[in-house]
Amino acid sequence: MNAIKAALALGAVLVLAASLAPAAYAAGVDEAAAEALAKKSDCLKCHSVARDKDGPAYKKIAAKYKGQADAEQKLVAFLTTGQKVKIEGREEEHQALKTKNEAEVRNVVGWILTR
Ligand code: HEC
Repeated sequence: MNAIKAALALGAVLVLAASLAPAAYAAGVDEAAAEALAKKSDCLKCHSVARDKDGPAYKKIAAKYKGQADAEQKLVAFLTTGQKVKIEGREEEHQALKTKNEAEVRNVVGWILTR
């Protein structure tokens, strides 16, 4: 009986630990590649990691999506489909990443979400 209880408790701890762990790609983000593609795609004209420019700081975006299981999927869509955003009061199409490679898009999204 006690062994079963212990096993259940251990299971609960493991589930909790998994849900608290940073997003799965935290260890797998290629930071240099992400930054290079962001730069090439002009993202850093409107965004910086820590400071709001025309666009919100990537740290703020990471905080906004923290703990949301579908964050990666949402941002991949956001960065590949040219969604409308308000920039200085004007409606514009948001810049898309300059790549057709989904792994590269995911890498940038992972980079933003782990700021
Ligand atoms: C011309 C300025 C501009 C450029 C260039 C730009 N962004 Fe943005 N971005 C914005 C603005 C403004 C918002 C806020 C939109 C809103 O909250 O409605 C935004 C929002 C975002 C968001 C958050 C979306 C959300 O759901 O909260 C992400 C992620 C993002 N940008 C990434 C990028 C990346 C990556 C690039 C390069 C491909 C990029 N941005 C280029 C202005 C820009």
